[in-house]
Amino acid sequence: MDTQIMYRAQKTGSDKHIKYLIKSYEKIPVRIWDNDVECCNHIAQSIALAIRQRQQDEKNIVLGLATGSTPINLYRELIRMHREEGLSFYNVITFNLDEYYPMQPDAAPSYVRFMHEFLFNHIDIPTDQIHIPNGTIPLEEVGKYCEEYEKKIALHGGIDIQILGIGRTGHIGFNEPGSWLDSKTRLVRLDSLTMRDARKDFLREEHVPFRAITMGIDTIMNARTIYIMAWGQHKAEIVRRAVEGEVSSHIPSTYLQNHPDVRFYVDKAASELLTRVNTPWLVGMCEWTDDLIAKGVIWLSQKIKRPILKLTDEDYNEHGLGELILKYNTAYDLNIRVFNRLQHTITGWPGGKPHADDTTRPERAKPAKKRVIIFSPHPDDDVISMGGTFIRLVDQGHDVHVAYQTSGNIAVHDHDAERHIEFFAEFSEAMGLRSEEMDKLQKKMLKAMKKKAPGEMDNKDVLQIKALIRRGEARAGARYCGLKDDHIHFLDLPFYETGKTRKNPVTSKDINIIKALMEEIKPHQVFAAGDLADPHGTHRVCLDAIFGAFAALKRESWIKECWLWLYRGAWHEWGVEEIQMAVPISPSELLKKRRAIFMHQSQKDRPPFPGEDDREFWVRAEDRNRDTAEAYRALGLAEYEAMEAFRRWEF
Ligand code: F6R
Repeated sequence: MDTQIMYRAQKTGSDKHIKYLIKSYEKIPVRIWDNDVECCNHIAQSIALAIRQRQQDEKNIVLGLATGSTPINLYRELIRMHREEGLSFYNVITFNLDEYYPMQPDAAPSYVRFMHEFLFNHIDIPTDQIHIPNGTIPLEEVGKYCEEYEKKIALHGGIDIQILGIGRTGHIGFNEPGSWLDSKTRLVRLDSLTMRDARKDFLREEHVPFRAITMGIDTIMNARTIYIMAWGQHKAEIVRRAVEGEVSSHIPSTYLQNHPDVRFYVDKAASELLTRVNTPWLVGMCEWTDDLIAKGVIWLSQKIKRPILKLTDEDYNEHGLGELILKYNTAYDLNIRVFNRLQHTITGWPGGKPHADDTTRPERAKPAKKRVIIFSPHPDDDVISMGGTFIRLVDQGHDVHVAYQTSGNIAVHDHDAERHIEFFAEFSEAMGLRSEEMDKLQKKMLKAMKKKAPGEMDNKDVLQIKALIRRGEARAGARYCGLKDDHIHFLDLPFYETGKTRKNPVTSKDINIIKALMEEIKPHQVFAAGDLADPHGTHRVCLDAIFGAFAALKRESWIKECWLWLYRGAWHEWGVEEIQMAVPISPSELLKKRRAIFMHQSQKDRPPFPGEDDREFWVRAEDRNRDTAEAYRALGLAEYEAMEAFRRWEF
């Protein structure tokens, strides 16, 4: 069971009751894992066991496979088992769920290419045992082709183990909302949300095909065992709806509720909105830690839209929190306790208030002038996520450094790169510095960009130009916040440099770069993007590199005095109950922050990777900071224009 909910079940003998309550919410068996790697290793073990058992019986095994970011670590582990533990795939037949249509198998976003890169090229599966829907079939033949695909699955005895991810529309395979229970392999139209999510693989929205060939719901439901997985907070809402909602074609994954052998495996972030995690008091008796008490009280205040200090005993009793009142005697005591906790998170002194009593402040008063490193995964996360605090730290006289962890080179439009290449050519011409070699290079870069197929990566010269564009913008942003150039560091971590949206895992090279900077500066405070909920993305890898550096430095005396504060990246904010430092931002500071974000011109108006939110980054940042201030106000605390939020990470 996850850490947050420590039932007193053994003591009270009420575990049966609790399980019953969980079941009445969760209609698919769910297991919550600390992280996706642990879970994928577990599934890989089960698959390996099944493969070996069939080998002993001299039989084949049929696997249904998925693509996307979800199963990558599963495939990594299977490859490792093949290499290190002699797991053979000679008796494995695979059927992939889907493929975009139309799609050439060697195109960058193709699922054929994905499967070969992430699995098949590294194991001993015979090629003729691999089946992936063919995106090159002429349209008029697709119907027949799909029937054949179904027949082939049946001919091999049906799917033994099916691996699934879940899309944010609730799709499984590409069975989008509206798919019927009896649907078979067929050509489908993709949902606009799915197309938006696919933008990261095609680099441009207009390149994403609007159709795909997918196995049907019926095909999937016929699999003997199904593992469906989801990682990351962006999946939390759809996980809740798939697991706890009514069965409906609007959310095709809900059909799985009627499968006899299905398991839903999620990481903590993806489980966040399940009733047993989000509001565990509705499911059973809880171990009331300080965090959980704050969560319960804040939840109640937000639910009934009444400030904390006005909550009554009846409010607690009527909303499943009566147990808390039993513990604290009256709502009054409880309200004060949580109110004070929140009050103590607010500070205009993110580096600590010099010469003040710091017993209830988030940061230490000493040393009055701190050495600070702000780590920014991409070149603009510093100002987007903590621009106001950044400016305050500098204004309050701390020795602030900023370190840009990655080059951010894939997120620049070609037209911006083109403009810079041409600018340089014309400038060299005007200054009489033009050379034949330079001319050749410029032409080569412009040609490479024109020739690039959808989703194809840039060559390394173009990536270099793009990195320099972002570097210039980051420098301008940091200077605007008051930093001198020798306090601005570009780390260009190697894990990022794939030229593609999918990045490599963190290695000791990345960790050592961070470690070297920390050793040089010996900071008292480190700020980092704490996107713990982002399992594969750049932010999570950047954070892992920082964790790795802290671990490597743990014996140094200065590191014991170094506090790590996590801000959330561009996409979401800490829940109020999680915040440990809230820095108020005045209207004029907010404007300053906006101007710092404006320095990132390549990300303005229409950034290449806007994610799931169409608002510009500065708008998102302001909305989010205003929302935090509004949440504090609604809970009954002081009213500010905006607030930036942080949580301390304790090792
Ligand atoms: C992929 C597939 C899709 C994905 C889903 C989640 O073959 O059929 O259903 O599993 O879109 O994608 P990721 O894992 O990228 O979040």
